[in-house]
Amino acid sequence: MAAARDTGSLLVAGLLLFFHTWGAWAVPEVNMEDRVDVMLGDTAQITCTYNSEDGVGGTIIQWFYVLRSGEKQRIYYLESGMSYAEKGTPFSDRISVNGTGATGVVVLTIDDVLLKDELEFICIVKSLTDGTAEGRTKLRVFRTPDAATIVGVQQGISVQEEDLAKIGTCEVKNGYPRPNITWYKNATPVRSIRDEVNVVPSITIESNGLYSVKSELSMKVVKEDADALFYCEITYFAPWKETMMVETSPINITVYYPHTAVKVWVESPKGKIKEGDTVEIHCSGDGSNPFTEFSISNGEDLSTSTNKLMVENVTRLNSGEFICTALDMESFNEITENITLFVNYLEDVVLMPGKIIEVPQGEERQATCNALSSLPTQTAWFKDGEEVGTGHTLALKDAVFGTAGTYVCVVTALEVEALEKSGALRVYVQGQPVIQVPHSAEMEESVDRTVDLSCYVQGYPYPTVTWSTSEGKVLPTASETETDDGVRSTTSVKVTGDLIVFCNASNSLGEDSMAFSIKAIIHTTSETTSPTISSTISSTISSTISSTISTTTTPVTTRSPVKPETAIPPKKVKKEGSGVIIAVIIICILLLAILGSVLYFLYKKGKICGRSGKQDLSKGKSGKDNIVVEMKSDNTEEAVLLGVNGEKQIPIDQ
Ligand SMILES: *[C@@H]1O[C@H](CO)[C@@H](O)[C@H](O)[C@H]1NC(C)=O
Ligand SMILES: *[C@@H]1O[C@H](CO)[C@@H](O)[C@H](O)[C@H]1NC(C)=O
Ligand SMILES: *[C@@H]1O[C@H](CO)[C@@H](O)[C@H](O)[C@H]1NC(C)=O
Repeated sequence: MAAARDTGSLLVAGLLLFFHTWGAWAVPEVNMEDRVDVMLGDTAQITCTYNSEDGVGGTIIQWFYVLRSGEKQRIYYLESGMSYAEKGTPFSDRISVNGTGATGVVVLTIDDVLLKDELEFICIVKSLTDGTAEGRTKLRVFRTPDAATIVGVQQGISVQEEDLAKIGTCEVKNGYPRPNITWYKNATPVRSIRDEVNVVPSITIESNGLYSVKSELSMKVVKEDADALFYCEITYFAPWKETMMVETSPINITVYYPHTAVKVWVESPKGKIKEGDTVEIHCSGDGSNPFTEFSISNGEDLSTSTNKLMVENVTRLNSGEFICTALDMESFNEITENITLFVNYLEDVVLMPGKIIEVPQGEERQATCNALSSLPTQTAWFKDGEEVGTGHTLALKDAVFGTAGTYVCVVTALEVEALEKSGALRVYVQGQPVIQVPHSAEMEESVDRTVDLSCYVQGYPYPTVTWSTSEGKVLPTASETETDDGVRSTTSVKVTGDLIVFCNASNSLGEDSMAFSIKAIIHTTSETTSPTISSTISSTISSTISSTISTTTTPVTTRSPVKPETAIPPKKVKKEGSGVIIAVIIICILLLAILGSVLYFLYKKGKICGRSGKQDLSKGKSGKDNIVVEMKSDNTEEAVLLGVNGEKQIPIDQ
């Protein structure tokens, strides 16, 4: 520019020299910018550059603007020594010109630029000697618009809608010159296409002269538009730059498209269904049209207008097909899908041959436990909380009293949680009464005390237990309890003197009895009676049950009484006892001596008789264990271990 201007100046100077030499008229040259851009409200400066032969006083500079009609209106006048703004023009108060005209540059300054200042300004330079020249500059005013807004439609749009549906509206206000709005869908500009897309702009000129622009987008919506982002681009002019551009935030729309397929499934329970469950069936489509009526039905119209169905407390009768129907309320298209429900079941157990079985001792029986089920099952047998067998059949072999009791069979359906049924089998082992020998069948107690006696009798039918004394007096039974394999009976007896109490048990198969011997402890004056009692007990017991005899050979008095206050000084008793024994021995020796002499007299002829005591112990471990120990009543004490199912396991010698 500077170079060009210099060249121009040289050219002008050359021409002036040429014309001057030839005495011809030289026309002054005026240079102005084509246009000057200014923001609304700012200050505009329009420069007018010229050259002239004449110095100050020889040049008149005038500023005009061009009216709409094309006429010129003078706004400023400058001559050597005087300058003024024209009165009564729109610029009168807002303009000033600097420069005197002598330097070849004058600048028109317009303060507080208004929109209506967007006009063409003319600078006319008139030289007294060289004539008149003029230059023109257009003033352009700009205003950056306010931030743009975008509003999308809130309600969903159906792809089945006939007309174009409104997507949203963009608006930009108070711009100058007029801004443009362009709609974009996923970064692609949207243009109006007949019957498909319609972009409707509307322009408003505000009272202050600024432009407000609005643009409404309507289109036919497709399914993919559900994922599309829409936004507006605002373009506007700014000083010195071609265009400026801003974008609104994006919006998206709700697109309703019809279902093309439906899916139906069991939401809960997960896994296999069993009777008693609450089944929740759900149904959904691949579309998004809310104007779709779902229903789930198994023929009995179970759900209406909902895509969920709850069937409470299902039974096997609920097994079958459930159909989900999606009815599009816009097109009345119907789509269906079905699901087959299977409700598993496990019936109550059936015990064969019945809930109660009776097994004669030593014999065998079988029981079965079955439950009808839609699924494979597993059966386990429990006795007293412990597993004693698996499988449908429970075999009771070689029954002993310990075999008796309650067997619970539990049938579990596989593959389904918490589906099990159980039943109880009561087993009685038939046999004649067998009294379990207590820890001690003999005891000592102070006179006037009450002794509680307990007698446990195995046997079935349940034995009848009676209590009596050796004198034949019947004692009342205090309590009687039936157990798995027998009866426990108790009685109470008041000690008045030495006592033998019988526990007699009998059932249809036989009887058993045992005797309790109670030695009365008499305070202070009882010394002399002691040996008599002792011998009485010995003889009685030996005739009743052999097991107690062994203990009677030791002197009764060696046992200390249980309670100190009832104690008799044991020494005294002991002394008396030894004295008597010594006396007896002496008598025996004397008798033997007499006998010996008699025998000697009879020359080698005589007989000696011996007695043998036989012990017969019969013990049985009743009970809690799965293993039953049976001790056979014959003298060869052989124990056989029996599993509960009767199978012989390991024989153990005891
Ligand atoms: C606005 O659009 C019109 C018509 O297409 C165009 O002449 C003008 O230059 C545009 N304005 C802007 C700021 O882009
Ligand atoms: C588009 O819609 C989804 C939900 O329909 C919403 O989570 C998301 O924020 C939306 N995005 C925009 C840019 O509006
Ligand atoms: C009980 O048994 C014993 C011994 O066998 C017998 O002596 C007694 O008479 C029986 N008592 C009753 C009441 O049957």
